[in-house]
Amino acid sequence: MNGSLRRRKRMTRAALPAAVLLLVSGAVAVQSTAPAAAAETTLRAAAAKAGLFFGVAASPNRLYPIVGQEFNQLTPENDMKPDRIATSSGGLQNTSGADTLVNHAQSNNMLVRGHTLVWHSQAGALQGASQATLNTFIGNAINRWGSKIAYWDVVNEALEDNNTGRRRNQWPHTMNRDANGDGDYFDAGDTDVIRDSFIRAKQVVQAGGYSTKLCINDYDVEGLTVQGGGPNRKANALYDIVRTYRQYIDCVGFQSHFNDNPNSIITNDLQANIQRFADLGVEVHLSEVDIDDDLSNNDIGAGQAENYRKVVRACLNVSKCTGITVWGISDSESWRSSERGLLFTGGNGSYQKKAAYHAVLDELNKGRTTTPPTTTPPPTTPPPTTPPPTTPPPTTPPPAIGCSATVSLNSWTGGFVATVRVTAGTSPIRGWTVAFTLPAGTAVTNAWSATASGSSGTVQFSNVSYNGAVNAGQYTEFGFQGTGSATGLTPVCTAS
Ligand code: XIL
Repeated sequence: MNGSLRRRKRMTRAALPAAVLLLVSGAVAVQSTAPAAAAETTLRAAAAKAGLFFGVAASPNRLYPIVGQEFNQLTPENDMKPDRIATSSGGLQNTSGADTLVNHAQSNNMLVRGHTLVWHSQAGALQGASQATLNTFIGNAINRWGSKIAYWDVVNEALEDNNTGRRRNQWPHTMNRDANGDGDYFDAGDTDVIRDSFIRAKQVVQAGGYSTKLCINDYDVEGLTVQGGGPNRKANALYDIVRTYRQYIDCVGFQSHFNDNPNSIITNDLQANIQRFADLGVEVHLSEVDIDDDLSNNDIGAGQAENYRKVVRACLNVSKCTGITVWGISDSESWRSSERGLLFTGGNGSYQKKAAYHAVLDELNKGRTTTPPTTTPPPTTPPPTTPPPTTPPPTTPPPAIGCSATVSLNSWTGGFVATVRVTAGTSPIRGWTVAFTLPAGTAVTNAWSATASGSSGTVQFSNVSYNGAVNAGQYTEFGFQGTGSATGLTPVCTAS
């Protein structure tokens, strides 16, 4: 204050024309005495600066100016669902609402997320359809809008409620068949609606030359854990699906409808969970965010604004978390209006910003983290037992069967996530086990893509059905979460 006053007093006549010029050019905010870059004043501008989109669920009757001013991505809240646009044979009908939304997005420079192609709910005339009919619909819908749709939710809500980690026992998933009875739908002889829908969608995108990315979307998959600290099996199941079908899946939507349900709270490990999906190479989106304003009992913080801040920060801290979408503009117009979970009050085009809005804008304006807090970068040197192919050790030939393992850690106070890479030696392996000796006070709470035995002291992780076979020199990864500290862990790998 005083400094700027002094500077103004010291301003000479000669300096005045320059100041006037700055005012005329509108650049005075940036080029004035302010030491840091000016904060952006809309969500979309702040998000764009940080390198992600900030979107909203929209309907044709609510395309008020705020939609294009505050948001740079749009998801049709209902107008692209099969009950609106699908015929029973997989054709399209009643697309005018969807067209209106796509056109509005285009003229306001917004990305569109198509929502959604294969879903047990709001299926309309497609309810009970065969995979062949679903495939017809997938083709028609993708081709109608082509690259105007940046992201399509190909499969929505495939996983069961209540943290079982199973697929839904509901059409279309009742079409699934587990041919060898091993408890998954990942084997060549199995039938899997998720896989087959993604394969079809990928074919259509490639044949059309579209830039559209293909997403899987679900809720209660946000944290690594659920209330009480137990594993989030639904998140783990989604992780295994994305990992297995990675070649067809480009992006993952964590719906992020945070509320008091024990599986729907905001946990401290949200960022770590985003990170493990990002580590598979997919984009992660928080695709349908609303946060109950009364999470006083279960969550990790009291106020709604603070909770929004945490959720936005978790995304910002993972570079492949490329977008956040709120599920509506204002509380009163939300699908869950009683939870008052959005960023504005008011309605019908007249909206007031809530504390949560200001918290989100402020957090976005801080940008992505430049120094990740306690991440141990993955080793840059090749694993020790994989000699370069041209120089095999002359005197001691490599064992016929062998593997090595490296671990990278993402830690916070009182907990960590370990990502372990298992690399086969110079021969293919059929299975593997990685053992660790954990320091006292450290315990495993949750593992994915491996079966854990033991939780403290000496613990072992063995391959699951689909990742035991690793070709010579290739690798696979699994992960686990724990309490305490895992600094300095030494993995010991045994292959079979
Ligand atoms: C909701 C809409 O907001 C409501 O208007 C509609 O009545 C039901 O569906 N997960 C999803 C969204 O993927 O499509 C849902 O949207 C909310 C939960």
